[in-house]
Amino acid sequence: MAEKRSLWGSKVGFLLAAIGSAVGLGNIWRFSYMAYENGGGAFLIPYLVALLCAGIPLMILEYALGHREKASPPLAFARTHPLWEPLGWWMPVVAFFGINLFYAVVIGWCANYFCLSLNLGWGADTEAFFFKEFLQVSDSPFALAGIRWPILISTALAWLTCWSICYREVNHGIEKASMVFMPLLVVLTLILVGWSLRLDGAMDAIKEFYLKADLSKISLATAAGRKVWVAAFGQIFFTLSLGFGIMITYASYLPKKTDITGNALVTCFLNCLYSIIAGFAVFGTIGFMAKAKGVPFEEAIASGPGLAFVVYPEAINQLPGLNQLFGALFFLVLIVAGISSMISLTEAFSCSICDKFSISRKKAVTIICSIGLLGSLPFTTRAGLMILDIVDHFINNYALIVGGVVECVLVGWLFKSQVMRRHVNESGGLRLFPLWDICVRFITPVVLLVILIGALLTDFSAAYGGYPVKALLFIGGGILFFTWLGSFILSHVPWKPEKMKTEHKPDEEHLLT
Ligand code: ALA
Repeated sequence: MAEKRSLWGSKVGFLLAAIGSAVGLGNIWRFSYMAYENGGGAFLIPYLVALLCAGIPLMILEYALGHREKASPPLAFARTHPLWEPLGWWMPVVAFFGINLFYAVVIGWCANYFCLSLNLGWGADTEAFFFKEFLQVSDSPFALAGIRWPILISTALAWLTCWSICYREVNHGIEKASMVFMPLLVVLTLILVGWSLRLDGAMDAIKEFYLKADLSKISLATAAGRKVWVAAFGQIFFTLSLGFGIMITYASYLPKKTDITGNALVTCFLNCLYSIIAGFAVFGTIGFMAKAKGVPFEEAIASGPGLAFVVYPEAINQLPGLNQLFGALFFLVLIVAGISSMISLTEAFSCSICDKFSISRKKAVTIICSIGLLGSLPFTTRAGLMILDIVDHFINNYALIVGGVVECVLVGWLFKSQVMRRHVNESGGLRLFPLWDICVRFITPVVLLVILIGALLTDFSAAYGGYPVKALLFIGGGILFFTWLGSFILSHVPWKPEKMKTEHKPDEEHLLT
């Protein structure tokens, strides 16, 4: 028999934890600037196509794989064939080293801005404050030029919070934290959105820039249009926590009888609904600011990661009253959403390490969070913003999408999707139809490959973000190479023989026929 594994205390607990993982900084901070940079309302079309073609089928796939194997991604992949194990490692390694390290730092920025909002400490020129005073951005991604101590301290606090939650068994740590974080997040977000929509000029900006779709912006015939599609697929992976190994890990703690399809649909639907609703708050608030300052919306908004930290504080400055409260509310929403995702990014890697090395969760989480804090250091330097932007671009446009294709090949072709679908249907709940097989075997991998080629073409036609090619190769290429190398090395540590045993019926043991 396979080893006994932790279980969620309740189905609601699992669902809240999974939604907590999905709803994060990506839904507010990243979604808003992605939507703005990629055509405003027009972005929603490729975003929804990506949700249907890749998001939902892969969410069901990840839940099904984790639930069936009761294992972390490397163990689930290794049981299929040892050659697949490095790919199983790559997902949690990328989630941890490619995302979590900078994610903790962005939560740290939010914590600083939460404190600053109490006295509007960012002053009148919020752009100069963010880039020159707060981040003190250096000239090049290689010019680290020292650590920004306020950022490091708040990042350390984020890691400490994450450690204190992940340290406990899932039903006590992550589940209990999600039971508090998620309802809190919903209440805070609804207050924020309601408040934003009532601001003068908000609805006009929403109608004009968020809901109106200029279809020429998403034409696949143009390089700019293709870039929007690539960004939308990258965003769907990021926002749904797909290709990170998180959903495989979370589903491995589910009991035998579980509604896999229903849970996957609810997670995807609520996550994307949250993003779209949060977009109303962001576009509405910026619309209000543009009107208050008497400038066009396009001039009021900033692109890139600075959106939440430059434009929002400026909008907060313009509010007729309760500015501090509005600011604190916005940054608190970001912190709560961020922490609930950060714990899941940590959990996927910790669970993989525990599975492989058979060490206690407490020990694994302590070592991993300490490594995490050290790994976050480059992002807390004066070059941190640029390093973050490059790492984020390469991880989202390449690593996560490659992870998605690999999962489709593994489950769709090697495992045989019918076997996985039978497992889903035998576990109870909403029925999964053969359309899903067609998706994971053909539609999703083909679409992802097209997107991957689109990403390569875009990157080869112009250096991303105007950064020096050397920086893109060294930082972007470096993160892809080292996460792969690390995964390869980890996969060569032998498993304890009992780990390879599964609870499957004998006729399902050897699927590679
Ligand atoms: N899914 C998480 C987010 O969107 C990582 O922030």
